[in-house]
Amino acid sequence: MESKKIAADRAVGSVKSGMVVGLGTGSTAYWAIQAIGARVKTGLNIQAVATSEKSEALARELDIPIVPFSDIDSIDITIDGADEVDTDLNAIKGGGGALLREKIVAAASRELIIIADESKLVQRLGAFPLPVEVVPFGIELTMKKLAALLACPLNLRQTEDKLFLTDNRNYIVDCHLGAIEDAVQLNQALNMIPGVVENGLFIHMAAKVIVGFNDGTVRELT
Ligand code: 5RP
Repeated sequence: MESKKIAADRAVGSVKSGMVVGLGTGSTAYWAIQAIGARVKTGLNIQAVATSEKSEALARELDIPIVPFSDIDSIDITIDGADEVDTDLNAIKGGGGALLREKIVAAASRELIIIADESKLVQRLGAFPLPVEVVPFGIELTMKKLAALLACPLNLRQTEDKLFLTDNRNYIVDCHLGAIEDAVQLNQALNMIPGVVENGLFIHMAAKVIVGFNDGTVRELT
């Protein structure tokens, strides 16, 4: 917990009044939203967009002003977590199932800061199963295409006995790749499959990664 919080607190130091801020999703982004909420209470004046229904609900509880996308032209800074991140600032995201909204918000942001505890920092992406968001229509066909492309075990994500549904009412296929050789090519190839909405590879999107360590130190990668 503490290593996630120190990374989040460091990142929130970059948020200034007047900014439009993208709020990430997950247990690390939770601490960033808490820190932003605390600063809003003492006068920070921002507008925010959220990457999930859960983060939006938390922001509203903390009186962080949430605005619709129609009210903004771009996002100044987004602070979000990751499931894996490498030293080239590439990441796998979507463990919480919010990857589509996270990627839309990240792509609209002038600066994406990824926050993570040290367990997320890897030499090579792929040990964490890559989440791929797919539409329910034709799911069997889409999974066959994914199997042909990836040749690795695929799991249609479930929670308890039900298929997991994203905020966009889609499914998630977790792809157990083990290691990713060429993330740029894989990102493109996945998104070419009809039925795939988006995948959890965030390549060349982050401007900075802030890692919190268990000994209480923080490292910034740029
Ligand atoms: C949600 C995400 C999260 O940022 C990612 O899963 C990391 O979550 P956590 O901070 O709880 O480990 O991409 O879709």
